[in-house]
Amino acid sequence: MILLANSEGAPGISASAAALRAGKPALDALEAGIRLVEADPKVRSVGRGGWPNILGQVELDAAVMDGTTLRTGAVGALAGYLHPVSVARAVMERLPHELLVGAGAARFAQEIGADRDSNLIADSARTWRELIKHEAGPHAIDRLDNMALIDLCRAAMDPERVRDTTVYLGRDAAGGLASATSTSGWAWKYPGRLGDSPIIGAGSYADSAYGAAACTHTGEMTIRAGTARSIVLYLKMGLSLRDAVDEAVKDLARLRGGMLAGVVIHAIDARGTARVVAVNCDGDIRYWIWTPDMQAPELRAAEHQEI
Ligand code: GLY
Repeated sequence: MILLANSEGAPGISASAAALRAGKPALDALEAGIRLVEADPKVRSVGRGGWPNILGQVELDAAVMDGTTLRTGAVGALAGYLHPVSVARAVMERLPHELLVGAGAARFAQEIGADRDSNLIADSARTWRELIKHEAGPHAIDRLDNMALIDLCRAAMDPERVRDTTVYLGRDAAGGLASATSTSGWAWKYPGRLGDSPIIGAGSYADSAYGAAACTHTGEMTIRAGTARSIVLYLKMGLSLRDAVDEAVKDLARLRGGMLAGVVIHAIDARGTARVVAVNCDGDIRYWIWTPDMQAPELRAAEHQEI
């Protein structure tokens, strides 16, 4: 057994580890952990407390993947619901689809009786109002519906508040691997923007035969490189976990133009080895790991690479 999560995953990591220790399937353990992250307003990039888009609306992305069936479920730009990870799982379990977005995702969430929440806490609303006033003038808030947002969105890009996520990877006692992600995406993003978190193969992928991977930070990069799927495919082709992650980093290094910034890769192989690499990231990037020999999950420092 193994559990890996990024540092934002703190509120749920113990519950997730306890579920794995109790013999629960990996996906149950990951969902239980991520629900606690989504409900915690102190985590400013996920669920309640997540940053809103440029219109002041919190749009959430999430995905799950069962590495044994290779079924997935994902939602993108879901507004008005507290637990996108559970709505994503319901997409997998109750529909013949893998991904729902926007109004369709919200309709589905309502049909399944998902917990409602605007997720816009007072601090986010105040910061957003000040930003719009600063960037577009004192009366812009009332005119946003009829304004072009392209320039406003670019001007408002704030490196302090962008692109984090929570990602969880797990291997259960039966050897099943799973991945799960949840995020509010970039602060002040263009409405409808999806990051990599709901895009299976970019922000996450799990295959019980080989391994699982998930990414945080700049989804615009991992979508282009298909990072999570690539890592699992490199494992399938016989590369070690170290070499598979290095190969995915080389893929990211080939990107030219567009949004190029940091990416953090989290990966495990089917034997339960883990590796976390922070690419082009400043500061101290940490991640949670738990294995059954540990009394409690441990917070460790990621490797750093520049490309
Ligand atoms: N990796 C999260 C995002 O790009 O939204």
